Amino acid sequence: EKGLYPHYMLKEIDEQPLVIRKVISKYQDASGNIRIDSELRNSLKEADRVYIIACGTSYHAGLVGKQLLEKVADIPVESHIASEFLYNRPILSKHPFFIFISQSGETADSRGVLVAIKQLGYPALTITNVPGSTLSREADYTLLTHAGPEIAVASTKAYTAQIAVLALLAFDQAQAQGRAGQMNPFHELSMAANAMEIMINKKEMMEEVVWQYLNASRNCFFIGRGVDYYVALEGALKLKEISYIQAEGFAGGELKHGTIALVEEGTPAIALVTQSSVRANIRSNVQEILARGAHVCMISMEGMEEGTDQIVLPAVHELLTPLVSVIPLQLIAYYAAKYRGCDIDKPRNLAKSVTVE
Ligand code: M6R
Repeated sequence: EKGLYPHYMLKEIDEQPLVIRKVISKYQDASGNIRIDSELRNSLKEADRVYIIACGTSYHAGLVGKQLLEKVADIPVESHIASEFLYNRPILSKHPFFIFISQSGETADSRGVLVAIKQLGYPALTITNVPGSTLSREADYTLLTHAGPEIAVASTKAYTAQIAVLALLAFDQAQAQGRAGQMNPFHELSMAANAMEIMINKKEMMEEVVWQYLNASRNCFFIGRGVDYYVALEGALKLKEISYIQAEGFAGGELKHGTIALVEEGTPAIALVTQSSVRANIRSNVQEILARGAHVCMISMEGMEEGTDQIVLPAVHELLTPLVSVIPLQLIAYYAAKYRGCDIDKPRNLAKSVTVE
């Protein structure tokens, strides 16, 4: 039930800190360790490469998951769009391990890949929000995201829950390989939940951004580097699907290889700066588009902010920044759709679960 909320999407955005805390409680055992099935742990440990398969927002969570598994557990990972993988299958490694990410667990494109790789005898894990869903039943292992029913077509809390579960999976692997550092993933996730809550309580700020930057625009760019680029892709998808504003996410460095030609006086752009390693480069990309007249809204993380940035996010662990940086993007999409009078929970032409290829 959406209760006092005008839309399920807003309710689901607000639920995210609670969902992260729920993930923590479901995956932490009494002695504070990560609760993950040992057969799953061992099967993943034997893999020489992980293939993450998903669509839409779940694919974007998979991109963040790739980063987590590679940086934390040192496992090579490829993230693929399910529909492309099915018809353009890459050459697989000797011991592949497949991870399917799907809120609904019913997405036909992803299921197509699962059926194909099970025929080849490869192990598969499904990360899903729906226990007993097709992708969960047909994979060897399941990790639930515990986000509760997601009703709005635009996925929000499923995305952040998927990232939290992927982070725990990566830490569990790192521990299994004896390479876990000092970081306590539960503590870091709980700090991220607090930071998400702080952003959720600043809704007027995102409403103001929409007013200032997207009021009369038909398009918008989202830019970032590294993991911020992956979140930029998600921010663009959210804005497109519910407000119908044409939006694209770009890797900051790629703009000058073509797309910058589209930037003119007043073109709105939203830039993310949460990673210290690419902070200077993304700021210089922003200068390039500002010089061509772009109207840029800067979203940076505490410690990396400059005085003129529009939105400053509370600092969290560098690997978990997507959990926090996606919140303003979800809210920007929400308010942009609201001002345009769009049907926020049921955008045109879309279904909550896509059961045809
Ligand atoms: O249920 P799934 O996670 O497999 O769904 C995948 C996509 O269809 C889904 O994420 C879609 O992109 C959302 N509408 C995005 O908000």
